[in-house]
Amino acid sequence: MRVPLLFATNAAVLRSPRLEMRPLVPDDARHFADLLGADPAAIAMLSHMPDPLTVEAAREWIELRTGPGGHVFALRDASGTFVGTSGFGGPRDGIPGFGYWIGAAYRGNGYATEAGDAIVAHARRLGVKRMVAETFPGNAPSERVLVKLGFRAEGPVIRNYPLRGGWRQLTLHVLELRDLVA
Ligand SMILES: CC(C)(COP(=O)(O)OP(=O)(O)OC[C@H]1O[C@@H](n2cnc3c(N)ncnc32)[C@H](O)[C@@H]1OP(=O)(O)O)[C@@H](O)C(=O)NCCC(=O)NCCS
Repeated sequence: MRVPLLFATNAAVLRSPRLEMRPLVPDDARHFADLLGADPAAIAMLSHMPDPLTVEAAREWIELRTGPGGHVFALRDASGTFVGTSGFGGPRDGIPGFGYWIGAAYRGNGYATEAGDAIVAHARRLGVKRMVAETFPGNAPSERVLVKLGFRAEGPVIRNYPLRGGWRQLTLHVLELRDLVA
């Protein structure tokens, strides 16, 4: 039986002008610990990222997102340096969720947007029609990235994220991929 592409194991390598995006692997956990481990403010903006972010905890996060249906990429710049991650997965009612982070030293260069553009185009090729993202209050840089990618803010949602203190209000953002120009 043919597995729909969205639910297949991610083996894609994507390229944008400044970045190479390849599927995350467990050994990338050390980059998570290096880049995010000492950045609790960034971790607080991520619904499922453990804190403290040890290599072992990061490895578990990666393993949960690299099975069938997980499309999360390691982002590397022209020198091969790991700068962050971006991707989608965990379809809820068939609608994948989109998430990303960039190491503090590499923010403000347009990398989240550049990777997001390539990954949204990839999702579209896999047949994704709609994608959602959520932001915690006060995450203006992420809201801006989502606007640049074409997401529309739909308003508040209440979610239970135990790693972020339980029930929280976030903003839901929706991207209709069928509306995007190819
Ligand atoms: C959100 C995040 C991924 C953005 O990464 P980035 O590579 O710096 O993003 P980009 O450079 O592509 O775009 C950032 C935009 O936010 C803007 N921005 C930055 N700080 C801002 C602020 N305090 N208020 C408003 N806009 C801000 C930038 O000016 C830029 O917009 P512009 O291109 O119109 O000038 C990064 O800040 C991050 O990793 N944060 C912690 C984790 C996180 O929040 N992940 C997303 C969870 S939903």
